[in-house]
Amino acid sequence: MVEVSTSILTMEKGAEAETILKLEKAKTDYFHIDVMDGKFVEKDTYNKMREYAEYIKRISNLPLDVHLMVEDIKNGIEDFSAVEPNIITFHLEACKNEEEVHKNINLIKKANAKVGISVKPNTKIEEVYKYLPYIHMVLVMTVEPGKGGQTLLIDMLNKIKTLRKHIEVQDLEIDIEADGGINLATHEKVKEAGANILVSGTAILKAVDYKVIIEELKA
Ligand code: DX5
Ligand code: ZN
Repeated sequence: MVEVSTSILTMEKGAEAETILKLEKAKTDYFHIDVMDGKFVEKDTYNKMREYAEYIKRISNLPLDVHLMVEDIKNGIEDFSAVEPNIITFHLEACKNEEEVHKNINLIKKANAKVGISVKPNTKIEEVYKYLPYIHMVLVMTVEPGKGGQTLLIDMLNKIKTLRKHIEVQDLEIDIEADGGINLATHEKVKEAGANILVSGTAILKAVDYKVIIEELKA
């Protein structure tokens, strides 16, 4: 069953509380928290996303899906485990070696969160295979990380297909989350490719009725 994780990165200034409440009512499956440190990617949303996550924690029971686009992953896990997220995802490209990947995996497990590993468009999907037995989700970036409102990179569909096939052959239970440029024009192809969690920001936040768009993305 497909789930939707709404990215709150591009929430309208000054309307954040109202937007979050509307998303809560519209029953988004997760709130997708895009944490950027201004180093791994150009934008710095670190403190803003901590504020938003703490606010959501206070007013909603819906799960948080934290996407760390940061170089200092250990610090990010520590800071964001305070809001007890359901999932914490870090970027493979921000890890120096295999040992560091396993350290991050164990840190996230100690924080009682599910473990996600994310790969950027130019990273080969095979690079994540060796970690699959230890994690819960692979976040396949379908845009270059760093900002919302971009167009989905169609080549990423093959990457999702390849990963889904590998997971099936290996008989693993792993979620595939697709992130970036997902809207009413692209969601079908992304699901057919094998993603079962769809991140969407702009497409949902610009819709008149969040509930309708979330249901359409899931249909
Ligand atoms: C990009 C973020 C995505 C992005 C999705 O770096 O990881 O989550 O905010 O937003 P849309 O749906 O607008 O592409
Ligand atoms: Zn994201």
